Amino acid sequence: MDSPSTDTRISPELIRQAKGGTPIVCLTAYTYPVARLLDSHVDLLLVGDSVAMVLHGHATTLGASLEMMIAHGQAVMRGSTRACVVVDLPAGSYEDSVPQAVASARRLVDETGCQAVKLEGGVAIARQIAAIVEAGIPVMGHIGLLPQSVEKDGGYKIKGRTDENVADLFADALAVEDAGAFSLVIEGTIEHVAADITRRVSIPTIGIGASADCDGQVLVIDDMVGLTVDRVPKFVKEYADLRHVISHAAELYASEVRSRRFPGPAHVFSAANRSDA
Ligand code: KIV
Repeated sequence: MDSPSTDTRISPELIRQAKGGTPIVCLTAYTYPVARLLDSHVDLLLVGDSVAMVLHGHATTLGASLEMMIAHGQAVMRGSTRACVVVDLPAGSYEDSVPQAVASARRLVDETGCQAVKLEGGVAIARQIAAIVEAGIPVMGHIGLLPQSVEKDGGYKIKGRTDENVADLFADALAVEDAGAFSLVIEGTIEHVAADITRRVSIPTIGIGASADCDGQVLVIDDMVGLTVDRVPKFVKEYADLRHVISHAAELYASEVRSRRFPGPAHVFSAANRSDA
């Protein structure tokens, strides 16, 4: 989207208005230093529940808790001043009832100061989305491949391969839009289905493994910078190779410690030099 000429945060309403314009740039962020590095380059920082896998080593996003999301949401808010910050509601914090969903969303916003929350699902959680929006909290929807449902779905399955599935995706997208969400993540769908949904809904779509025709794109930051050590999904483009940068640095450090080349004179405090910090 075109950068607003203000030093205040980009609001969910500004994101909504970016529909059909310059694509919206979104990356996940989980920590203070990464938020600081990304803030001036992106429109949206998503504190995704992927943090459970990426930083905490869980097998799925089901390892995320509300407390985990709050801690990382606080860190990202401390590290950013410009981007719109959206924090995921983790599995188990919103599906059971509307009051549960509103209470969890309220906690995320009150304890982190984030601009919006994200929930996974369409028709099945439309009542929750509507109630959270009604409570004054902007909501980003998420349809298609839903990582919180991988155990139920029997794995990470691309959506939109059958007519029935396409109809479900459209119903989900329209339910999220009708419930008042300001934007919609579409994950892991057949390309033209994401493009068709983007044309059909009035709110911006943010694609991941979806289509270049979406109104914006999101990637998991660790995937994008080449830090992911296990399986890198097909839809990821690695813009850097931090795996090798870090592993090479660690190799060099280990060799210098073992050979006593580190620390050198510049890294120790000498009694003679009082200006040493
Ligand atoms: O948790 C996450 O990182 C996400 C994005 C991949 C959309 O939901």
